[in-house]
Amino acid sequence: MAHSDQQIQLEIKNLTKVYEGGVQALTNVSFNVHKGEFLAIIGLSGSGKSTLLRCINRLVDPTAGSVVFNGMSVTGATDEELRLIRRKIGMVFQHFNLVSRSSVLTNVLAGRLGYANPAWSLINRFSDDDIRLAMTQLERVGIADKAGYRADELSGGQQQRVGVARALMQDPEIILADEPVASLDPVLAHSIMQYLEEINKKDGVTVLCSLHFLDLVHRYSDRVIALNNGQMVFDGLPSEIDDIKFKEIYGKDAERVG
Ligand SMILES: Nc1ncnc2c1ncn2[C@@H]1O[C@H](COP(=O)(O)OP(=O)(O)O)[C@@H](O)[C@H]1O
Ligand SMILES: [Mg+2]
Repeated sequence: MAHSDQQIQLEIKNLTKVYEGGVQALTNVSFNVHKGEFLAIIGLSGSGKSTLLRCINRLVDPTAGSVVFNGMSVTGATDEELRLIRRKIGMVFQHFNLVSRSSVLTNVLAGRLGYANPAWSLINRFSDDDIRLAMTQLERVGIADKAGYRADELSGGQQQRVGVARALMQDPEIILADEPVASLDPVLAHSIMQYLEEINKKDGVTVLCSLHFLDLVHRYSDRVIALNNGQMVFDGLPSEIDDIKFKEIYGKDAERVG
């Protein structure tokens, strides 16, 4: 789905994070995200990508600056408002963050609880509707037949599909994906990226996705922002990342093969 209406969904203004102990992970980061965009976030390890994504749903509390989602202040939200906002923001993690001893179905159902400790799903009862919905999400990512398996019986690629299905349980307006394919080999990486692409294009879900490899950025994203040492050093089209920009982002020349 195109973002032709150019409706701003997420406004990030002067976002700054200083961790306890003094590490300045983000400095005055500002950008807007339009509904339906597929935005890649790149930068070296330690450049602040995870901190940025986690400030958006306040898994990390920013030190300064503001995040506004659909016109609602996230940074100024009460606990109750934050709970409602987070319902609309799905998250996918590099290391999947599944409850390894629970079933695939239970892990997907945990998406219903938003960002609650996944172990809580064990003591919750879910409705038949929830279970049907969870099965639909598993079908969507092609592993409905694995619903009864323990999560740790699945391969990495399959576990990340569970991670995507769990995020879909929230019926999210945005998915924040923090290096969702960094733990997977290239073929599996593409299969996960293709699910995110389909969710973005067919359902119009906005995707913010940190990525390690530029080829994935070129293949899947509409737009890319780059962080270097907590500062935004690029905001533009993937095709605009030339050798000079590459050096600004990564601090070294692009390595060319052949
Ligand atoms: N919980 C934390 N406490 C202290 N420092 C942290 C914490 N999380 C991340 N950092 C530091 O903040 C900086 C940015 O980290 P991070 O956002 O994880 O970057 P990236 O995801 O790009 O690798 C790094 O210097 C990292 O060591
Ligand atoms: Mg990270």
